[in-house]
Amino acid sequence: MRRTESLRALVRETTLDPGDLIYPLFICPGEGVRKPISSMPGIFNLSVDEAVKEAEEAASLGLGGLLLFGLPEAKDDEGTGAWDKDGIVQQGLRALKASSAAKKLVLIADVCLCEYTSHGHCGLIHKGPHGWEVDNDPSVALIAKAAASLAEAGADIVAPSDMMDGRVAAIREALDQSGQTQTPILSYASKFSSAFYGPFREAADSAPQFGDRRGYQMDGANAREAMREIELDLAEGADMILMKPAMPYLDIIRMARDRFEVPIGAYQVSGEYSMLHAAFEKGWLERDRAMLESLLGIKRAGADFIVTYFAKDAAKLLG
Ligand code: PBG
Repeated sequence: MRRTESLRALVRETTLDPGDLIYPLFICPGEGVRKPISSMPGIFNLSVDEAVKEAEEAASLGLGGLLLFGLPEAKDDEGTGAWDKDGIVQQGLRALKASSAAKKLVLIADVCLCEYTSHGHCGLIHKGPHGWEVDNDPSVALIAKAAASLAEAGADIVAPSDMMDGRVAAIREALDQSGQTQTPILSYASKFSSAFYGPFREAADSAPQFGDRRGYQMDGANAREAMREIELDLAEGADMILMKPAMPYLDIIRMARDRFEVPIGAYQVSGEYSMLHAAFEKGWLERDRAMLESLLGIKRAGADFIVTYFAKDAAKLLG
């Protein structure tokens, strides 16, 4: 059954489609800005006008959607830029919604404070008896406010990535109270504290100024805990879940697929992209095949859709 391509195609169990792929965009202030991210070849910080051009290309390639991050003009202790009516992602969403690309793409807004806080943590922080800690409950209130503001600006889906407890319920309530009853929540329910987020922190300018995220993101050793996090988020009203990172956690994606009847996305994160790119640049891996194989593995593990910086390149190959 493996002799010819048509035989192989007939018995293929897993397929990749451009519509399964979500492309992350990093929106920054200015006009005509396309600032390369050194650790992620081919990925840029884009001003709103450039993000619209990128969205048009994504739509013409048949991608499923975009995941939006923001680099605000200014940061502060609370991350007020995250829920500012004229915040950078809010501006981007309005422009994208007005473009022809919006009809073909699902616009997903990442919801977190880390791009907006001066200290770079995903929530408010305070100095407790054991050193700096995140302040879970007050952070949740701000994160819910940010989600409602992003939905109001036009997000089709809001995706909280902060890992605070109780945020899904708070976001659902904030959405409903502001009349965004139809906006689904894609919860990064299973998010591990990972070295593979390194290049993203350059892209989103969100590296913690001190400490790390181990106090709120999950320990990579724990699979059962990941299932419990997902259960809790679903009970609070999450409509879909996002698993992250992808390649070092394929077993967790499979476990979730076997247990939960909701759509599951997986995020092939910045470090996964950068390490593959480094090998392509050295000529150590065959670019096109390795890229598609990495995505196929994630799909086979059980992901319905994949957030990936390879989205455009893979879609070009998939045709
Ligand atoms: C924000 C957020 C991060 C990523 C997605 N949302 C960074 C982090 O948690 O440090 C990482 C994505 C990537 O590495 O591509 N909380």
